[in-house]
Amino acid sequence: MTTAVYPGSFDPVTLGHVDVIRRAAATFDELRVCILRNPKKHYWFSEDERLALIEESVAAIGAKNVTVDHYEGLLTDYAKSVDASVIIKGLRTFQDFEYESQMDYFNKRLAPDVETLYMMADKKYSVLSSSAIRELIAFGGELSGLVPEAVIKAVRAGKFTQP
Ligand code: PNS
Repeated sequence: MTTAVYPGSFDPVTLGHVDVIRRAAATFDELRVCILRNPKKHYWFSEDERLALIEESVAAIGAKNVTVDHYEGLLTDYAKSVDASVIIKGLRTFQDFEYESQMDYFNKRLAPDVETLYMMADKKYSVLSSSAIRELIAFGGELSGLVPEAVIKAVRAGKFTQP
């Protein structure tokens, strides 16, 4: 039984993230999507809001082997705490590759037994980012085809914590 962790900020979850969740859930016995803190970021959606939006989006794709958590601390400590042997990261661009190769170095030092595997983003999501979504939200741009229905509903209802 192989458990994988898909970590991220998910502020908010996009269809690119959901695509990685779907593919990882089909590849591993158990997938744990985990919201962690990236100290470089200031978040728009609270942890509870992000968690609820991911849970609703996972339910919508019918992935039964996925759980959603949040964790305050190191990704590798979370991975060890749930007996995960794999970390999944999505890669879109060369910038992602550079950033992830640094993260890989530190995560490997902290947990040599946990392997990080990379999934190339589907081409239609290769320039999609949560930061672009936040910009669209700020200026009232159209979100359909970019984020799950749960996010569209939350934004329409004003149901999220704004900065
Ligand atoms: O979606 P993001 O912001 O690119 O995700 C980055 C995240 C949250 C996965 C990363 O910042 C992270 O792992 N944070 C937890 C702290 C940690 O373990 N850092 C890695 C070792 S330096």
